[in-house]
Amino acid sequence: MSTRILIIGACGQIGSELTFKLREIYGDDNVVASDISYNNLEVVNSGIFEIIDAMDYASVKVCVEKYNIDTVYLMAAMLSATGEKYPMKAWDLNTSSLFHVLNLAKSKFIKKVFWPSSIAVFGPSTPKKETPQYTTMEPTTVYGITKQVGERWCEYYNQKYGVDVRGIRYPGIISWKTLPGGGTTDYAVEIYHEAVKNKAYECFLSEDTALPMLFMDDAIKATVDIMTADNDDIKIRSSYNLAGITFTPKEIAASIQKYIPDFKITYKPDFRQEIADSWPQSIDDTTARKDWNWKHDFDLDAITKEMLMQLGEKYNI
Ligand code: SER
Repeated sequence: MSTRILIIGACGQIGSELTFKLREIYGDDNVVASDISYNNLEVVNSGIFEIIDAMDYASVKVCVEKYNIDTVYLMAAMLSATGEKYPMKAWDLNTSSLFHVLNLAKSKFIKKVFWPSSIAVFGPSTPKKETPQYTTMEPTTVYGITKQVGERWCEYYNQKYGVDVRGIRYPGIISWKTLPGGGTTDYAVEIYHEAVKNKAYECFLSEDTALPMLFMDDAIKATVDIMTADNDDIKIRSSYNLAGITFTPKEIAASIQKYIPDFKITYKPDFRQEIADSWPQSIDDTTARKDWNWKHDFDLDAITKEMLMQLGEKYNI
């Protein structure tokens, strides 16, 4: 029997590229993209697309039944920086959407769920370097709180109801196709756009703020790999630590200067600095590497090269 997939939040930074990849793997007719609005025409026009409000159980269920969906990737969420501006909205969206999908799986409407967690589950009391899979987790952002409780519920639904749910704690994701929105790690995407367009960037984090990051191709590979791994190999049902690289704004600027020597960076930290300071600087992902053979490919210079090339084409520079 073929896999029938629904992606919720398909217009977003990760959802969009995941949609393209899954369509390549499973065929256009087996992958339904959905979002709250038509705000990414490349996704909307790339195959079946439905408007879904992830907070409305009926709207998700109708779509699942209409297309005979067995696997849902729940990519809709409000990220860290926006979540601090709208705490209750972030809580409602991030938790109610997860319950809807977990309950559809519990009631056997669907068989498998992917739900992304984040490095935001960690907090100031977490060890900052090589943060282990199991450690103190006291998130101080609303986004982080929603991800931490989400992890607990995923594990609960797996243990009590046998729901096949799989998750990854994504670090900051760097990509060129779709802009991220409302995150603290977004600077590492904006910087490339500004480097290509204006050769200058004012960074909202300080120069030595180290954060874990990952290139989109690696993030998509991890997502596909964990979802296609044998059920028995997925030992952790809350969410797996996942690492690629770690760098600071100063280091990414130096990497850009190798290609654009007159690129200039200035620093003007805002409220997002406190969020970044509460998160790990690097992640220990030994368990993901062991359980389902995770391995990243892109280092910082490889990312810079690819980003500058793709954005140069995009902006016709
Ligand atoms: N990229 C996210 C954010 O910055 C973290 O998962 O909010």
